[in-house]
Amino acid sequence: MFITFEGGEGTGKSVQAGLLKDFFLSAGVDVVLTREPGGTPFAEEIRKTLLTGEPDKITPLTEALMYLVARADHWERKIKPALNAGKVVISDRFHDSSVVYQGICKGVDINMLNMVYSYITNNQEPDRTYLIDLAPEIGLARSLARDNSETRFEKMDISFHRKVREAFLELAHKYPNRYLVLDGSLPIAAIQELIRNDLSDFS
Ligand code: TMP
Repeated sequence: MFITFEGGEGTGKSVQAGLLKDFFLSAGVDVVLTREPGGTPFAEEIRKTLLTGEPDKITPLTEALMYLVARADHWERKIKPALNAGKVVISDRFHDSSVVYQGICKGVDINMLNMVYSYITNNQEPDRTYLIDLAPEIGLARSLARDNSETRFEKMDISFHRKVREAFLELAHKYPNRYLVLDGSLPIAAIQELIRNDLSDFS
């Protein structure tokens, strides 16, 4: 089973993904927790480049291609082998982030993004995607309060982050069978319970 978490900055995706991993581990399920951009040594190198520096240091197209390069390595070396071995894979962000940030919000051709994605993964989609939805003002404040140098996206305008939020909701609406939208302003434990309940219905 392949599970992804999506949402804007500081919505609590990583916390929820970590708690879900613990849940699987305590149930004796073999689980891999990973993230994008990153997840493999090479993709983590690309992550550093993508998430540091000034917002306009690379063009949207270059940025989109770099996310796809990182995704190819991540898919081939980590996600695909784990799924083939029967493990549960949880990824903190995945291709929908490219569709939202580079495609819908920065105007890169979404057909191209999806075509390359399909080529990389042989068209394999996540089984379940949890969108943690939160006002960007709250998420950005949380994210910037962390001790973190990866702030290239946080430096983008608030209007950009509002667009990100709307674009994720649009995507969730488009794929209702795959997506569950969760209210990021709920307590951490309450969000996790909704996810676990959903998974028990799902499987
Ligand atoms: P995060 O680890 O805090 O979620 O940061 C990752 C950043 O990278 C976040 O601002 C969203 C951005 N991103 C994209 O723009 N496109 C992508 O395909 C992915 C995976 C992330």
